[in-house]
Amino acid sequence: MSESADVLSWVDENRDRFLEELRDYLRIPSISTDPAYAEEVDRCSRFLTEKMGAAGLTAERIETDGHPLVYAEWGDAKGKPTVLFYGHYDVQPPDPVEEWSSPPFEPTVSDGRLVARGATDDKGQSYTHLKAVESMLRVRGELPVNVKFLVEGEEESGGQSIEAYVRRDGGERLGCDCVVISDTSMFARGQPSLLYGLKGLAYVELRVRGPNRDLHSGTFGGAVQNPLNALATILAALRDSRSGRVLIPGFYDAVRPLEDWERREFAALPFDEETYRRDLGVDVLAGEEGYTTLERVWARPTLDLNGIWGGYQGAGAKTVLPGKAGAKLSMRLVPDQEPQHVVAALRAFVETLAPPGVTVELQEMHGARPVLVEPSGPFMEAAYEALEAEWGRRPVKVREGGSIPIVGTFAEVLDAPVLLMGFGLTDDRLHAPNEKLDLENFYGGIRSIVRLLDGLGEIAPGAGG
Ligand code: BES
Ligand code: MN
Ligand code: MN
Repeated sequence: MSESADVLSWVDENRDRFLEELRDYLRIPSISTDPAYAEEVDRCSRFLTEKMGAAGLTAERIETDGHPLVYAEWGDAKGKPTVLFYGHYDVQPPDPVEEWSSPPFEPTVSDGRLVARGATDDKGQSYTHLKAVESMLRVRGELPVNVKFLVEGEEESGGQSIEAYVRRDGGERLGCDCVVISDTSMFARGQPSLLYGLKGLAYVELRVRGPNRDLHSGTFGGAVQNPLNALATILAALRDSRSGRVLIPGFYDAVRPLEDWERREFAALPFDEETYRRDLGVDVLAGEEGYTTLERVWARPTLDLNGIWGGYQGAGAKTVLPGKAGAKLSMRLVPDQEPQHVVAALRAFVETLAPPGVTVELQEMHGARPVLVEPSGPFMEAAYEALEAEWGRRPVKVREGGSIPIVGTFAEVLDAPVLLMGFGLTDDRLHAPNEKLDLENFYGGIRSIVRLLDGLGEIAPGAGG
C-alpha cells in the first residue's frame, strides 16, 4: 500500500466537490488580454485567494501594474524542502463563440469531459495543486513539505507583471527547492510525461505605409509602390516554404542543435506521423528539411504569419491600391536564441527588403525566452516515481512547442529545478472552441501531486539545487 493511501482515498471521496469548485472557477471569464474583462479577472483573483485560504494556506492578492498575482503559503514542515507551485488563472478569449457546442463560461460535463474556456489551460490543471495540498492538510493536519503558490492573471497576455515581481523579489520570498508547473500536456492518454523544454517566442507586428490614402488602382497603379505588394515581397523573403528554413541572416546562429540522445528518444516515442497527418486533414506534413515532425515542433525554431491585412476584404472585387498594409508574425525560439536578438535581426533584414516608396515599422508585441531544464536530479526522480505510481507507466521525457514566459525567469532567479508535469491531453483544444479537460486527468492530476509531495518530503532541502 502506498504511503499516500490515506490522502488518496480522501481525494476519491471528494471528487464531486472538487469538480463543482472547478466549475465555479471556470464560470469567471478572466480574459486577461481584453480590458473589458478587467473586473472579471479581478473577481477571479479574489475567488482563488478565498479558496486558498479555505484550504488552510495563508493567502493574499498582490496588486501589480496589470492584473493581480495570487500568493499563498504553508511553511510548518521544518527541515523539509519548499515547493513553489506556479499556474495562471487568466484565460484566452473564447472566440469564435459560435463554434462552441456549449457556452464557453458555462462549464459542461459530458462523456467524462469538462468543456469550458480554461478547463485545461490553466485553471483545471493548476487547481490540481491546490486540491492536493488541501486534501493532505485535511487528512493529516500537516504537509510533508513547505509550499508556496504563485498564480498569475496575465500569462496569456505576456506575463509582464509576474516577470517584474519575480525579478524584484530576487528569490527572497519565493525562495524554494523546486518549482512545480502543470500547464502542458501528457504525450498521450494514460502516458505521464515530464517536460524538459519549452520554446520561446518573439511576436511582432509589421506595418507598411505607402501613399497617404487609398487610390484607384487604374488611375494610380504603376506610379507608386503598393504597400500590400511590398508587404508580400518582404514576407515571402523571410522563409523558404520548400525547405522550411527561416532566411533571416543570423537566425540560426544561437540555436543549440538537437543532441543525439534526444533524437533517439523522440524517435522511440509512440508517434504515428500518418495518424497525425490525417487528423489535421493535410496531404503532407511540411516543415524544416532534415527533421522529424516531433523535432520540428519541439526543438527547431519556426517563423509563422498569424495575421495579415490590407486592401479590400469584403465580397466581390474592388480595384483599390491600399495606402497601408500589415501583418502579425511570430517566431518560436529554442535555446539559446534570445527574443531581442532575433527581433533585431528581423528588423535589420526587413529594412534591406523594403522596396523604395514605402516605410516599414516593426513593433514588438510579446516575447518569452526558450527554456531547457535538467531532466535529472533528486526532484525530477521523485516526479518520475510519483507519476509512475499513479499512472502505472514510466513517464516519457518530452519537449513542447508552446511557451510559458515566466519559466525561464524562475530557472534563472530562483536557481531551483523546474518540474513541468502537465495533465492535459493533446486533443484538449486549448485556445480553441470546445476546450476541455478529461476528468480522469483532473483527478489523476490531484492524486499525482499528492504522491509527488510525499516523495519530495523524503529529500533533504537543497539537495537538487
Ligand atoms: N499553457 C500554454 C503553453 C503550452 C501549451 C505549453 C501547450 C506546452 C504545451 C500557455 O498558456 C500559452 O498558451 N502560452 C502562450 C504564450 C504567449 C501568449 C506569450 C503561447 O505559447 O502561445
Ligand atoms: Mn497555459
Ligand atoms: Mn494558453
